[in-house]
Amino acid sequence: MPDFNIEQLNKSVSDGILAFGNAKNIEELKKAKTVYLSDKSLISESSKLIGVLPAEKRAEAGKVLGCLRTKILDEYNAAEVRLKNEALQNLLENEYVDISLPFDRRISGTRHPLSELIDTVSDFFTSLGWTIADGPELEAEWFNFDALNFAPDHPARAMQDTFYTTCPNLVLRTHTSPVQARAMLSQGVPIYIAVPGKVFRSDELDTTHTPVFHQIEGLAVDKGLNMTHLKGCLEIFAKAMFGQAAKTRIRPSYFPFTEPSGEIDVWFEAKKGGSGWIEWGGCGMVHPNVLRSVGVDPNIYTGFAFGIGLERTLNLRHGITDMHDLVEGDIRFAHQFIQGGINNRIDGDNNA
Ligand code: DAH
Repeated sequence: MPDFNIEQLNKSVSDGILAFGNAKNIEELKKAKTVYLSDKSLISESSKLIGVLPAEKRAEAGKVLGCLRTKILDEYNAAEVRLKNEALQNLLENEYVDISLPFDRRISGTRHPLSELIDTVSDFFTSLGWTIADGPELEAEWFNFDALNFAPDHPARAMQDTFYTTCPNLVLRTHTSPVQARAMLSQGVPIYIAVPGKVFRSDELDTTHTPVFHQIEGLAVDKGLNMTHLKGCLEIFAKAMFGQAAKTRIRPSYFPFTEPSGEIDVWFEAKKGGSGWIEWGGCGMVHPNVLRSVGVDPNIYTGFAFGIGLERTLNLRHGITDMHDLVEGDIRFAHQFIQGGINNRIDGDNNA
């Protein structure tokens, strides 16, 4: 058993205080406690010695020992509080659970960019005061062709273009134009409609064609409409689709249901390989025979119409060069179009 030695005791207590202060975690603190505060520690051994000290020294020794014990215990308690707080802080910083994270990390699907584009286009025409119209995809041959002034032997009726069905006189509509006739019959004139919808042609799927695709049809019939109205309408539509730098031109063409007929081209500043014109769709002044077929007097009313491919519009807007991307349903493709994706990138040219 050691002697009751105040100097050694003082040293042991200050060593203990130092060790408690230096402890980096509770384990180190506990180890230091065993050395400086356990039954075997100098301070405990010394208190057992008090009884054997000469009587006159006992009171003094007891007092000193009591002071030292209080001092080292206070330091121990302070170190314990500090280390427990640090441990809690670490836990909060490093092991927190973010309950706002999705519990299922598989990427979920999103709306198809074409559906988004149909909404954008519909919003545009609604903002002009036009209404959105639709019609059946399984269409009467009469609406798809006859009402639109197609001659009975027009090549578009041939088997290679049109999906005929086993129902006599019903076809999968080859364009959205039959809705022109349907809408005029049901709503009368004046009329201003936009018709986004699915159309079908017996093409093989390749980089520039799909057998099922989408068009936006426009029809305006009123008193006094002429080609300047058509041109103005297409010009603002093109700017809405491709940005303010876009311009349009109309080249002479032929469609049975318009006279005169035209192809709409759009000017792209950012076209690949230098700025230039890209074909966008068809347009024209509604043929008098179309108006007659639905009981509208072409001497009183005139109208303009246009039909534009929506896949083509999407491809031009985003520089998409392969139709497969639009139909294969890979959600990684669709994901590029959500906020922060490639939305509004206009850098493409393709021959869709
Ligand atoms: N229906 C035509 C097609 O699918 C496109 C078209 C051209 C529509 C001229 C029109 C138009 O309304 O006026 O090829």
